[in-house]
Amino acid sequence: MLTETAVEKALEQKMNATAYKMVGKTVSVYYGEKRALFDVNLNVRENTVTALIGPSGCGKSTFLRCLNRMNDTIDNCRVTGEIKLDDADIYDPDIDVVELRARVGMVFQKPNPFPKSIYENVSYGPRIHGIARSKADLDQIVESSLHKAGLWNEVKDRLQESGTGLSGGQQQRLCIARAVAVSPEVILMDEPCSALDPIATAKVEELIHELRENFSIVIVTHSMQQAARVSQRTAMFHLGNLVEENDTDKMFTNPDDPRTQDYIMGRFG
Ligand SMILES: Nc1ncnc2c1ncn2[C@@H]1O[C@H](COP(=O)(O)OP(=O)(O)OP(=O)(O)O)[C@@H](O)[C@H]1O
Ligand SMILES: [Mg+2]
Repeated sequence: MLTETAVEKALEQKMNATAYKMVGKTVSVYYGEKRALFDVNLNVRENTVTALIGPSGCGKSTFLRCLNRMNDTIDNCRVTGEIKLDDADIYDPDIDVVELRARVGMVFQKPNPFPKSIYENVSYGPRIHGIARSKADLDQIVESSLHKAGLWNEVKDRLQESGTGLSGGQQQRLCIARAVAVSPEVILMDEPCSALDPIATAKVEELIHELRENFSIVIVTHSMQQAARVSQRTAMFHLGNLVEENDTDKMFTNPDDPRTQDYIMGRFG
């Protein structure tokens, strides 16, 4: 049995040895005439949690949405530059966007379970993507996804009850189970804890820590403590520019850019 530090070490080695899961080059985003991102070069590493920080309106959600083409759903929004998942250009017209979003899943700020049973919330994705071969298969995926989201024990006796009847923190973990159920390679989280109390937040943070073993995670957060706790890399945005991207430890002790220092010290934003 590996000790926790041995697991951390193995992950660290894996992280250093592996290439990038996603590569973003000169990514710019326009909403109509207004430019929201300016030539952002930012990569997502494997088995790593990357935190996006910066003052309100700086472009964090905009960049996050570029990574699974959620910006496609916004009228007037135009993305330029290049984003690759492994070696594939995700903006290639031949890319199947539904499949892309299964590989690059998303958890939103506000828990948004479907008004359906807990079971259906989790089984929907695997069903439409043809991941399960049988009902038994599907049951198994639902159970293991709920386990991964740290929710199984709380809901195992009420799988047929509505997902919307759960508490806010449980709903958010249900949404994480739903995202995990299709075995994504990357999970994007936009302020996933902002609607949660400290206990539910701690649970989600613990979960992020565990998910890192199998997924690459990008998380937007306004909490510097949260970024420091959950991430290994941190990217700081300001006015649509990527100011700095660095090891989280360095970012919070000795950042290269004075704007990062100012933001972390609470001097603006
Ligand atoms: N749908 C939209 N239409 C027009 N402008 C938008 C849209 N969404 C975002 N913007 C603009 O793009 C810029 C970046 O917004 P974005 O939501 O990415 O910021 P953010 O860093 O996520 O902020 P917050 O921390 O408040 O969530 C802002 O100036 C915002 O007003
Ligand atoms: Mg945002």
